[in-house]
Amino acid sequence: MKATFTRTLATALPVIAVAALAAGSAQARDPFSKEELDKQNAKLLELVEQGYNLWHGSNPDMSGNGLACGNCHPDAAASNPQTFPKYIQNMNRVVQWGEMVNWCIQNPQGGKALALESQDMTAMYAYAMNLHRGKPIQPGLASQQTKPIEVKYGKGFPSKPSGIGFDTK
Ligand code: HEC
Repeated sequence: MKATFTRTLATALPVIAVAALAAGSAQARDPFSKEELDKQNAKLLELVEQGYNLWHGSNPDMSGNGLACGNCHPDAAASNPQTFPKYIQNMNRVVQWGEMVNWCIQNPQGGKALALESQDMTAMYAYAMNLHRGKPIQPGLASQQTKPIEVKYGKGFPSKPSGIGFDTK
């Protein structure tokens, strides 16, 4: 077993060395141009808009009773993405933000949970994080609720109201 491992390592070392060289040259790339950064930002805002729509009921599977996140968390208020991971009393363990989203989908909304690695969950996270820009990151903040964030409705990501749930636009 040990001999096999040593042999494997001996074969792998040159590969690792080449990979390290490649990584070195990758680091030396030119900084992103303004056009590239604008494109990346536009991609992010597309997902933020998708998150906005989901937050206001665009995916009917997420709700069995017509409620959407926006009914209880307008403008992502009290969703506190900057405080995760943290201990959640009713689950008796430390959870990541998406698990709490799924708890709300399944309990107050009686809907079907999203896969944690799904594009929809990433969109929800992108939306909530965007509305919490500039907030200090405070993982574990358990007992203190942050105040609702004041946001100008839809600024930066125009989208169509879904008609389900409470639309803030
Ligand atoms: C009917 C009201 C209601 C709806 C609808 C609702 N929630 Fe919640 N949400 C709550 C309540 C109440 C809590 C506090 C639960 C607790 O702490 O045990 C909570 C807690 C949370 C938390 C944890 C916040 C923290 O700091 O601990 C997140 C994240 C969250 N909700 C996201 C969502 C998302 C996303 C949706 C839509 C999919 C949603 N909620 C829909 C009532 C709701």
